[in-house]
Amino acid sequence: MRRPMIAGNWKMYKDVNEAVELANGIKRAVFDTENVDIVVCPPFTDLGEVGEMLTETNMGLGAQNCYWEAEGAYTGEIAPGMLKSVGCKYVIIGHSERRKYFGETEATIKKKIKAAIDNGLIPIFCVGETLEERESDKTMEVVKVQVTDGLKGFDESYLETLVIAYEPVWAIGTGKTATPQQAQEVHAMIRDLLKGLYSENFSQAIRLLYGGSAKPDNIEELMKEEDIDGGLIGGASLKVESFVDMIKTTSHLYAQVQ
Ligand code: PGA
Repeated sequence: MRRPMIAGNWKMYKDVNEAVELANGIKRAVFDTENVDIVVCPPFTDLGEVGEMLTETNMGLGAQNCYWEAEGAYTGEIAPGMLKSVGCKYVIIGHSERRKYFGETEATIKKKIKAAIDNGLIPIFCVGETLEERESDKTMEVVKVQVTDGLKGFDESYLETLVIAYEPVWAIGTGKTATPQQAQEVHAMIRDLLKGLYSENFSQAIRLLYGGSAKPDNIEELMKEEDIDGGLIGGASLKVESFVDMIKTTSHLYAQVQ
C-alpha cells in the first residue's frame, strides 16, 4: 500500500515571520498524525527558519525549485546541495508556473530531477495539460510526453523515491478542480505508462499526487480514487485550518483502508 502524501506549495507567499507562524500552526495540529507524509514547500528565504522548526517532527521540508549545477556563477540560482543544507528533503520540479513564466522545458526539468536525486532530495515532478490541450483531446498525449521525456534515461532503481504530481494547468488556482474521475483517468494512465517504461512493481510503488484547486471539501473524493495517493496543495495550504483539515481527512481515509 502506498503511503499518502499531502504537500503544501506556498508559492511566492509568506515572508519569514508569516512562514514560521504558519508552519508552527500546522506542526501543533498534526504532531500525532502518523500515516501521511506531510510536506511544506515555502519560498527559499523561509527555508532555513522553517527547516529548523521542523527538525525531528513528522513534517518534511521541500523547496519549490532548484538549479542543476552544484555551484558556480549562476546569479540568483540555488543548488540542490544548498537545499539539503537547510533541511530540505523534497523539491518540486517542473511546476506549470515554472514552465509557463520561466521557460522550463522537459530538457531542463530532466536535469533538475537528476540533480535532485543525486543530492538525496525527493523530486515532486509536476506534469499536466493546459485548458486548450484538454479541450482538443490532447491530455493523455501531453502528459505522456511530459512523463516520458522528464524521466528518459533513468532506471527504476534510480527513481525509487520519485513522486509525480498531476496538475491540470486549468485547475491550478482557478477554483476549478478536476473531477475525481478526470483526475483518476490521468493517474491511471501515468501508472500504466510507468509499468510499460519500467515494471509493474515500480508503477505500483510510486506515489501520484493530484494538484489543482484541491481543498477541504473535495480532498476526500479525490483521495478515494484508486490511483490518487495524495495532493500537492497551493491556495488551501496557506491557512492552518484548511491544510490541516486535508491532512486529517487523508489520514482517516488511509486508516480505514489499512
Ligand atoms: P492550487 O495550486 O491548489 O492553488 O490550485 C496547486 C499547485 O499549483 O501546486
